[in-house]
Amino acid sequence: MKLVKTLVAASIAAVLAASVSTAMAKDLTIGFSQIGAESEWRTANTNDVKAAAQRHNINLKFSDAQQKQENQIKAIRTFIAQKVDLIGFVPIVATGWDNILREAKRAKIPVLIMDRDLSVSDDSLYVAKIGTDSYTEGKKVFNWLDNYVEKNNLKPRDGGDKLNIVILEGTVGSSAATGRAHGFDDALKASEHKDRYNILASQTGDFTRQKGQEVMESFIKSYRDKIDILFAHNDDMALGAIQSIEAAGLKPAKDIVIVSVDGVKGIFQAMIDGKANATVECNPLQGELFFETAKKILKGEKVPKSVFVEEGVFTSDKAAEVFPTRKY
Ligand code: AHR
Repeated sequence: MKLVKTLVAASIAAVLAASVSTAMAKDLTIGFSQIGAESEWRTANTNDVKAAAQRHNINLKFSDAQQKQENQIKAIRTFIAQKVDLIGFVPIVATGWDNILREAKRAKIPVLIMDRDLSVSDDSLYVAKIGTDSYTEGKKVFNWLDNYVEKNNLKPRDGGDKLNIVILEGTVGSSAATGRAHGFDDALKASEHKDRYNILASQTGDFTRQKGQEVMESFIKSYRDKIDILFAHNDDMALGAIQSIEAAGLKPAKDIVIVSVDGVKGIFQAMIDGKANATVECNPLQGELFFETAKKILKGEKVPKSVFVEEGVFTSDKAAEVFPTRKY
């Protein structure tokens, strides 16, 4: 009987402890504004945020802005009205956030940025940023390319003295697009081979497969036999472009060298199939770091202003070997 009483008491205590800790964790409500679902990368990022929120037992209020800054601003305003504990968001573009962030500051709600950078008049309007370093990604793209050209003694297809590059840019005004563009340009200018290259055309494909395909089609219409290299600001646009290159009777990765950013499974498959040459990783798995940092902020701990996730460079010769280890 004594044993039964002890067991009952122990299980009541365990149930109470569990419910108290659940109640404590559920007290933490985080509003998160995602920009949309424009790419394979973004889907992986969203899934990772949701899974990490569950692991951390966070009450996550998730909002999808469908690629509109105004929707993000509305969502953030709603989170403020709901008195969430912390607001997280991916800034679709870098500017235009000052007013809404002032509202969050007045409401004493800390803001943690994910993935893309933003530019505000007062840095205290957000606590920190977890994410990727687009500028370095752009530099890595050029450095990989310059090496590849040197090693393979790549010659212009039109018989001229310059290798012609076309660029598919990301969303206009996004830090992911401007950072990658600046990083690439700076590395090109710093290269001892800079005179070897000519940027033939550069246009936004909005980080989507469909626009990547359309813009590449128009590049090919104008410069069919001139294009030697494609730099796409993300893998999805490269995957769209590959379709246009093939439709035009050209060989992706052979007639046109293809390098992009992200490292999603789709581009690994294209590399395995011999249709893309390299991808510079932009790691979407930022959820764990985001919620760890959010919890520290809410405990009043100091956190670094910028934390970058780890990123590599992957090439077609290693794609088949690396593919099984890819998480997104
Ligand atoms: O901000 C990260 C970029 O946004 C990724 O490169 C791209 O795929 C996404 O849409």
